[in-house]
Amino acid sequence: MILITGAKGQLGYDFQRLFDELKEEYIATDVDDLDITNIEKVREFVKDKNITLIINCAAYNNVDKAEDEEELCKKLNTYAPRDLAIVAKEIGADYITYSTDFVFDGEKKALYTEEDIPNPLSVYGKSKYEGEKEVFKVKPESFVVRTSWVFGIANNNFNKQVINWSKSKDELSIVDDQISSPTYSKDLAYYSWELIKTKKYGLYHLSNDGEASKYDQGKYVLGKIGWQGKLNRAKTKDFNLKAKRAEYTKLDSSKLEKVIGKKIPSWENGIDRFLEEME
Ligand SMILES: NC(=O)c1ccc[n+]([C@@H]2O[C@H](COP(=O)([O-])OP(=O)(O)OC[C@H]3O[C@@H](n4cnc5c(N)ncnc54)[C@H](OP(=O)(O)O)[C@@H]3O)[C@@H](O)[C@H]2O)c1
Repeated sequence: MILITGAKGQLGYDFQRLFDELKEEYIATDVDDLDITNIEKVREFVKDKNITLIINCAAYNNVDKAEDEEELCKKLNTYAPRDLAIVAKEIGADYITYSTDFVFDGEKKALYTEEDIPNPLSVYGKSKYEGEKEVFKVKPESFVVRTSWVFGIANNNFNKQVINWSKSKDELSIVDDQISSPTYSKDLAYYSWELIKTKKYGLYHLSNDGEASKYDQGKYVLGKIGWQGKLNRAKTKDFNLKAKRAEYTKLDSSKLEKVIGKKIPSWENGIDRFLEEME
């Protein structure tokens, strides 16, 4: 039996759909029925359920708010992933949890591999990096997958924001100095599953292929939906954001692609399928 935490989020929702298709048995939980910050509750929950895999899709994802909510952010992104790893170890289950391209400072200006040394610029990035280390400390045979700019059907994301803005505005400004890759949560779930099946535990990067700035992503979405307005290039400094952003954090997914023997599709292809789904 597979246990999914944070199942109402983008990735959790797509794991559920994948397992429905594959006829894999799972239990989907979110904060209302399983708060992952309470290890005793988690221990109790998994008892007698024959859980063989825990997929942690829950997280604190509000990058700017995290600057003021450091403790809450750490609870969800550092300690809870570690505690789930402890429980997985206790019950002999496999374990996968997720991290982010925000662990990097962007100074490399080339694809980031798993070998590169993180240097997070924000509370959120730091909480995720600490979480990675804690997980491997307590259960080295875990999967930790870093991804970037996730979009899917189940929750809010940048694609949906852009579509909403386009409904009420005929001029938009989007930053072109943050570069990474949008990642479709459906692909994140599918390629993670391919990875889990290999049992080749470790740290992996998984994002859709190709790189884009937020401007490129917005432009692509707006073009696809036929928006007729004016799109301007902006800079991160124009927006007075609480958390510092790196300029370039595109993840190199080739380690994972090699292990699973499959190529991950481009972000444009991901957005095409996402927009079809939204119709
Ligand atoms: N979204 C991105 O752009 C992005 C980028 C890089 C990495 N990631 C990582 O990828 C993974 C999946 O992200 P996602 O976008 O699918 O996340 P998401 O849509 O924000 O979903 C997270 C889910 O976890 C739930 N949750 C919050 N606190 C919880 C708790 N204490 N116990 C159990 N569940 C709780 C959330 O509920 P509420 O909505 O009620 O809080 C939400 O349903 C996460 O590890 C995330 O950090 C995401």
